[in-house]
Amino acid sequence: MGELWTTKSVWFRADRPHLWLRRPPGNGSERAERAGRPRGDPGQGAEAGDPARVLPPVPPFLPRRLRRGVRRCHPAFLWPNLKGGFGSAIDAGKLTDIKAQIQSTNQPVYFGAGRFYIVPFTGKPSGNVNYEAEGVATQGIMSLYQRCPHLGCRVPFCQQSQWFECPCHGSKYNFAGEYQLGPAPRGMDRFKVTVTASGEVMVDTSQIILGPPRGTNTIHEPPQGPFCVAPG
Ligand code: FES
Repeated sequence: MGELWTTKSVWFRADRPHLWLRRPPGNGSERAERAGRPRGDPGQGAEAGDPARVLPPVPPFLPRRLRRGVRRCHPAFLWPNLKGGFGSAIDAGKLTDIKAQIQSTNQPVYFGAGRFYIVPFTGKPSGNVNYEAEGVATQGIMSLYQRCPHLGCRVPFCQQSQWFECPCHGSKYNFAGEYQLGPAPRGMDRFKVTVTASGEVMVDTSQIILGPPRGTNTIHEPPQGPFCVAPG
């Protein structure tokens, strides 16, 4: 079982922070074993003896809607996952395979477990911006975080328009994830991407690189067809 976290009122496993439990997982023997005491010994309670990482509680005085938002930003969700999933460096496969797939399907390659897309990138950032040096793009590809910078919905790719279109409030981004329309404050966020000597694409999801500001347009690609989502 993975490392445990608790806020004293709920419990989660490090590898499944989205699953909230009202009591420590496992049966009585497992809980007692974790707490370092024989079964039947009441000890100091699970919170006192369990080696779970204790996290600060979500403030109970906030209105319910705000508490929900705080929970989404809670350390349990932001803690890097060290087991190869979201929050760690992910091997996305061979660069040649990824490029071939993009070309044959005419859409980005999506990695659900890592919550990112890989898109082709041949844009020319203006000014002193150097995406290669920053690790934002390399060898003609870029990695985009699936989360909408507006309020966090997952942004799917629209095959018709060849843009990313958020179903929640209609924000739209071009193929490079650059802001085009809607209420989003900036372009889609990115992850650092590198290619190893053997040609494997590595995407580091432990750190989010904020998307470019509104007005950035390095690829100048208008929508290629009708939108999937009505403009917000
Ligand atoms: S969450 Fe995407 S536009 Fe609002």
